[in-house]
Formats: sequence, structure tokens, C-alpha cells
Amino acid sequence: ELSPIDKAKFVAAKRAAQMVESGMRVGLGTGSTAAWLVRCLGEMVRQDGLHITGVPTSTRTAELAREVGIEVTTLDDAKWLDLTIDGADEFDGRLNLIKGGGGALLQEKIVATASDQMVVIADAGKEVETLGAFPLPIEVIPFGWQTTKALVEETLVSMDVLGRDSTLRRDGDAPFRTDEGNYIIDLHLKRIGNAQHLALAMNQLPGVVENGLFIDICDRVIVGYGDGRVEMRD
Ligand code: A5P
Repeated sequence: ELSPIDKAKFVAAKRAAQMVESGMRVGLGTGSTAAWLVRCLGEMVRQDGLHITGVPTSTRTAELAREVGIEVTTLDDAKWLDLTIDGADEFDGRLNLIKGGGGALLQEKIVATASDQMVVIADAGKEVETLGAFPLPIEVIPFGWQTTKALVEETLVSMDVLGRDSTLRRDGDAPFRTDEGNYIIDLHLKRIGNAQHLALAMNQLPGVVENGLFIDICDRVIVGYGDGRVEMRD
């Protein structure tokens, strides 16, 4: 028996899996919700003869996809994807997102951008009026990260962003490392007034590789509820 939160994630994933057809090249997201999707697709491959090529957005997802029987390839081999299905940490009414709670934002953004369609699957708790309560991840290269962090903070001050506290993400005693070997600085902003402006300002700073704001990338959100209901936002 699933907990309400897992049930919500599962029903959203299950509905998204119905959008996948044989022959598709599919971007496979990262996180606990995306893991449900990968398991659903694996079952369809094994039981219904679904034939797809998956492009995983992390080593974690690649491992799971292989385990459940999905054929995986690289983005460069696939070149262009029909559909990417991924989770999110927050989404708003415009379908803008915060992603990267699991640290895979860079590959996730590259893969989603290379797709005809991006569909997000999320439990209802991720829906917000204004993005920003969830810490915004900024992926930075390790070289000079403290200088980059200071620069990020200065930029927030100059933009009058609420809440300027930033922390290096840790993994036990060591800094957390992304699949690319980078660090993540989490910004505790509370609410983000102009997400597009902030995303551009962050990506302009030397040392910053990418930020977790997905603006105008997502086409549809499938929202799951603990009682098994599913709603579409598009
Ligand atoms: C991974 O880097 C993130 O972007 C995930 O998509 C996000 O953290 C959602 O994860 P859950 O589905 O586990 O909430």
C-alpha cells in the first residue's frame, strides 16, 4: 500500500506514461517521481512490447532505466527527442519550474530543451502561486566557488531579491558533486518576483554553469493527488 504522497507521484507518472508511443525518443527525468515513470515505462516495454529509446538525465536514472529493460542512449546519439517527462520541485500557473533538488538540473535542462514537448509530473504539493519557497539551485564549477558565491549574492542584492542567503550543498562532510563534477549553491529566496530576469542574471556570472529555473520550457504539468486523482495544467 502506497503512502498518499507516493500514490500522488505514481498516478501522475502512470498518466504520463500513456503519452508514450512506440518509436519515440523519450527524455527520462530524475528524482522520485521520475523514477515511478521509468518503472511504468519498463513494465510497458516488458509486458506490452513498447519500443522506445530513452535518454536519461542522470547516472541514477540511466541505471534504473537499464534495470527495468528500457533501451538507453545519449542525447548526442538521439539528437532530438519527441518527449521528455520529468519531475519538478515547484511549478507555478505559467508552468515555470524550479528544478534541481536532486542535483540533475543541468542535464535535465539540456534534455528538456532538446525535446518537442516537456511534460512535468508532480504531486499537488509542488504547485505554488510564486516560485521561490523551494531553494533555487545554482550549479557552479568548483574553481573559485566562494568567489562565484559572493558574486551571486551581490547580484541578488543589486536585483532587490527577497532573501539573499545562499549555501553550498553538502553530501555529508564533502561538497555535493553533480554528475558533471560541479558544485551546487542553493539560494533561499522565499519568493522570486521576476524569474526570467533572475535566470538570465545568474547564467551571466562567470563560474555559474546553470540555474534551476525552467522558464517557458514545460508544456504541461500532470498533477497527482493522494486519493488517486489526476489533473492537467497546460
Ligand atoms: C532533480 O534534479 C530534480 O530536478 C527533480 O526533478 C526534482 O528534485 C523532483 O524530485 P522528486 O520527484 O523526488 O520530488
